[in-house]
Amino acid sequence: MKVKILFVCLGNICRSPAAEGVMNKFIIDNNLESYIQCDSAGTASYHVGSPADSRMKKIASQKGFEILSRARQINDQDLEIFDYIITMDDYNYRDVKSLDKNNLYNDKIFKFKDFCSDPSIREVPDPYYGGEDGFHKVINILEDGCKNLLSKIKKETLI
Ligand code: 4NP
Repeated sequence: MKVKILFVCLGNICRSPAAEGVMNKFIIDNNLESYIQCDSAGTASYHVGSPADSRMKKIASQKGFEILSRARQINDQDLEIFDYIITMDDYNYRDVKSLDKNNLYNDKIFKFKDFCSDPSIREVPDPYYGGEDGFHKVINILEDGCKNLLSKIKKETLI
């Protein structure tokens, strides 16, 4: 059985598809495709079916990360299927928790900052309405957190 990770943001066109792209590269680089898989989703439906934001794609690709996903909205089944449901900011966290009406999945709903090395990072900031700097910042946070997440999964599942 594979370990399944779902990254969640608001629109599923910037932060969570970038997290998916970063994690997918780490999975491939470590030859772990048979053990770990990841996906992403948004809490909102505005962008369903759209490719990731071109600014996010450009800055990710400069660092070797490919973003291929199309936006989708998180649903109730995702809570059952995925082992790690990792939200980018406090609004996403609150919205995912509110899908878990009977509090069955508390142990697998995380905040991305839980995996970051720098304790001063409280959220992955939404870059959508800002400049390029925001997108670079997102990628840097995601690289660090995904590296730590991969180490944790490797340790816990004794891969
Ligand atoms: P994301 O960024 O949640 O990281 O995909 C956003 C994308 C779209 C919007 C907000 C944030 N929007 O308001 O349309």
